[in-house]
Amino acid sequence: MLLPMNKVSERYSELKKLISHNDFLYYTQDRPELSDYEYDQLFLELQNIEKQYPELETSDSPTQRVGGKVLDVFSKVAHRLPMLSLSNSYSPEDLNDFDQRVKKVLLLDELKEVEYFCEPKFDGLAIELIYENGLLVRALTRGDGTTGEDVTENIKTIRVIPLRLHHNKKGKEIPPLIEVRGEVIMFKNDFAELNETQQEAGVQTFANPRNAAAGSVRQLDSRIAAQRPLRFFAYALGATEKISFASQDECENQLGLWGLPVAEKNILRRVARGAKEIISFYQEVEALRPQLPFDIDGIVVKVNSFRLQEDLGLVARSPRWATAAKYKPAQATTLVENVIVQVGRTGALTPVAIMTPVKVGGVTITHATLHNQDEIDRKDVRIGDTVVIQRAGDVIPEIVSVIIEKRPKDSLAFKIPDHCPICHSEAKKIEGEVIYRCTNALCPSILKESLKHFASRRAMNLDKVGDRIIEALCDAQLLKKFSDFYRLTKEELLSIERQGEKSVQNVLLSVDKSKKTTLARLIYSFGIRFVGEQTAKTLANHFVHLDAFLSANMESLQQAPDIGPKVAQSIFDWLQNPDLIKDVHELIALGVTLESTQRKSTGALAGKSFLITGTLPVKRDEAKDFIEANGGKILSSVSKKLDFLVIGDDPGSKVERAIELEVKIISWEELTKMIPA
Ligand code: IVH
Repeated sequence: MLLPMNKVSERYSELKKLISHNDFLYYTQDRPELSDYEYDQLFLELQNIEKQYPELETSDSPTQRVGGKVLDVFSKVAHRLPMLSLSNSYSPEDLNDFDQRVKKVLLLDELKEVEYFCEPKFDGLAIELIYENGLLVRALTRGDGTTGEDVTENIKTIRVIPLRLHHNKKGKEIPPLIEVRGEVIMFKNDFAELNETQQEAGVQTFANPRNAAAGSVRQLDSRIAAQRPLRFFAYALGATEKISFASQDECENQLGLWGLPVAEKNILRRVARGAKEIISFYQEVEALRPQLPFDIDGIVVKVNSFRLQEDLGLVARSPRWATAAKYKPAQATTLVENVIVQVGRTGALTPVAIMTPVKVGGVTITHATLHNQDEIDRKDVRIGDTVVIQRAGDVIPEIVSVIIEKRPKDSLAFKIPDHCPICHSEAKKIEGEVIYRCTNALCPSILKESLKHFASRRAMNLDKVGDRIIEALCDAQLLKKFSDFYRLTKEELLSIERQGEKSVQNVLLSVDKSKKTTLARLIYSFGIRFVGEQTAKTLANHFVHLDAFLSANMESLQQAPDIGPKVAQSIFDWLQNPDLIKDVHELIALGVTLESTQRKSTGALAGKSFLITGTLPVKRDEAKDFIEANGGKILSSVSKKLDFLVIGDDPGSKVERAIELEVKIISWEELTKMIPA
């Protein structure tokens, strides 16, 4: 059906706003209001409009986030104002000296305290975002400080970076030009997950989150960058027009109001008076460091007033008004007792160093991954070596270096075997990859790891069936394929070691609970190479029904959004294995049901639509599940179509809109009363 052009463009603007707003809620504020399904639907609608009416597409469309362009090189662009570096130090005493210097240059009385602004020193890649009239037009790396590289395509894929600054009544007007500087980083958990996927895919893993972030921003293929879980924090300005700030504090508050992520107020960013307060900030943040979701390598202290900053000026390429105080990385030395080779779900052989247990920054370390042969060769780690280890990314232990003087004379360089250490089949390296893989599809280790993946939380979520149980069941030949999970009996479970009545009960219960799942989860749980959670969701959205997916061919697979020939081939190969397909059919026969994305048409709330705003007494997701479980539908904005606006504390502007449109407004209590007990 063709809509009149003005309606299409109206809907197009509305969709752009809805999706951007939800990206902001989801990524920056961590409080999404839409389910993944609803979000995906809106996104598809937007993509379809752009496909049909390419003339409507604008550079601030959320579809730009998926990447597209592949470049040969990045072009070089001069910064309007140079990007400086910071003087740094490793001890709190140096912060005293810094404060003294500042006072001296400003000719201040010894007893007068200077107002400083403190925040973390983010450990990533410095980037400049150029906003013209609120629109992100370009993003540059720091480069040599004078000239950077144009990485706009990649930066646009970072969900926390607004493609257009948010208008906000509370703050200043958006100026014609503002350059925002900050750091692109990767969260520690995202980094660990990415490395795992990279390892399984047989491509290079990253040594730490900083390298992963920097490497991703400098990807020539923006579609790859789009798949990297990057984040950003803003902390400085470049050139601006028609706007001014009195202080760093005021500036970051405003950046936050425009939708840019800044360090958390009071906890990770605050004003401190005098050296004493800066030093306590340094110590407080050091104590928080292990709990932070991202790496920091110190704190940055800036004179808060921009006027005083100007008075202080620069020495060489560092400002006199700022300094970095770094934390020493937690390091220790220990002995490599052995190097073992683990075999992963896709057969990847990963060397792991087993070390004499040692405490590093409060955590006992015994294992460190050596990634692959290239990494072993580069560091030349051998069994018997004394090594310096460090918790890179504050969490993942890594071997930094070998203390050569302590090496035993008879030590030999470590070579990854050319056969699988588990089943002794041949291990092969695929052209262009750095990883050796076991070539035996029936390798017991591959099987074990596949079954662990199948049962894992984000896959089928057999939450009481831990890795140990899976290993014992495999060793006892009770578990040979996915469907065997659903054939387990109480007697069998009792027969494996250490299983008591109670835990057997729990295992059976969680197996039973896992039967209710979604097509996306099921596809993800198969553990097909290159099919992560996101790809599984794409496939589920595209094929809708399991049978359609199972009978897919190369052509239909590549019709799904973002599925290229390599991924399609991997899925297709998997689908050609009759044993696997038979196993999937058995899963269904044993009671695995796939929740359809079709909404329930029965229940006390059937036919009614709801929108939630403000803080409810229950979690937002729970509230939504509750409404949907009772047949209600969740809408994403206030419109005439909306039946009920459910409000909690601090409801915001949606209420005004609802009153205007005469939409019924109810509380959570009133909603729960709509459902018969
Ligand atoms: S302010 C003149 N604030 O540190 C200083 N920099 O050595 C302007 N960095 O290239 C930068 N966190 O990559 C500033 N909170 C922060 C920072 C920070 C990390 C990095 C940045 C810069 C380097 C300077």
